[in-house]
Amino acid sequence: MIDLRSDTVTKPSEAMRAAMSVAEVGDDVYGDDATANSLEERVAALFGFESGLFTPTGSLANQLAIRQLVKPGEELITETFSHIVRAELGAGAAFSGITTRTWESPRGALKATDPLRIARPDSGPYQVSSTAIAVENTHNFGGGTVQPLDEIKNLRNESLKLGLTMHLDGARIWNAHVATGVSFLEYGKYFDTVSVCFSKGLGAPVGSMVLSNKERIASARIWRKRYGAGMRQIGMLAAAAHYALDNNIDRLAQDHSNARSLAQAVAAVAPKVVNPDEVDTNIVVLDLAGARTSASEINTQLKEAGILGSSIGPTTLRLVTHLDVSAADVAKVNSVLPELVERAFKA
Ligand SMILES: Cc1ncc(COP(=O)(O)O)c(C=O)c1O
Repeated sequence: MIDLRSDTVTKPSEAMRAAMSVAEVGDDVYGDDATANSLEERVAALFGFESGLFTPTGSLANQLAIRQLVKPGEELITETFSHIVRAELGAGAAFSGITTRTWESPRGALKATDPLRIARPDSGPYQVSSTAIAVENTHNFGGGTVQPLDEIKNLRNESLKLGLTMHLDGARIWNAHVATGVSFLEYGKYFDTVSVCFSKGLGAPVGSMVLSNKERIASARIWRKRYGAGMRQIGMLAAAAHYALDNNIDRLAQDHSNARSLAQAVAAVAPKVVNPDEVDTNIVVLDLAGARTSASEINTQLKEAGILGSSIGPTTLRLVTHLDVSAADVAKVNSVLPELVERAFKA
């Protein structure tokens, strides 16, 4: 099977497994895991933060960050299709007692004016006060969209004036960096908290991290334990993340060109379905509105041809490239998918 459902499906390589097997470990709840400690220091420094905290998932990293920024009864604002509001099962409300309000933007691309238009800080005793804004970079359901740095900067400047904090869901910030050349330090500069994932395009089996100042991370450490995610000998997982940072960042460019190749093949027969120029990174979203065949039916047809994709809406199919998808795999998909899409639109 050529698995394009997500970049989370990657399996650790032999070399990554070898690095894991020799990792120095200790009980991380006691702060004794040297490999986890060095990873936390490394990633915090990479993004210009004082501290980092390893978490088993990106969702937990996001939720620990949100809890630091937004008090119960206060509001986080974010884009309508961002992971935090669409795919974390209401965790912000369930865990932290917060509310959310959203703005919608094409491809999830940030325009500073959108959140600023709906932000209501210090709303007094009768209305909900906004206290934080979350930005997803790259934007998953938007199709791997890279957020424009100028918009991030503008949003930061205006948010500071309003007393609003900012969180970056940087599960795929690695892809944004490779696509733009913008440094991690630069991306980190505009946010109060950042989450990153090692388990997506970087190919580690497990692991994410939340970054912020010492005080917030000390508090997040307590909440991580309270949520039941205080882990013990996690050095083996941290070693996989170290390996991924050493070896798997630059190669993301290959995933990006594979994704663009998929988009070009589909656009050649159905230009309205995808614009290859809008495929910034490793995620291709096909818009099948108006087709006679649903996204899930096309998915079934793809499966019969040995290809797995995911339908993320009734007329929306998502394909994600990653380190376990070769150029030959992409050539195979390109020999099957365009024909299925073309047929889906024929009367
Ligand atoms: C943008 C984004 N943020 C956060 C997450 C959550 O990561 P996890 O699945 O490790 O909880 C994902 C997962 O796909 C994601 O795409």
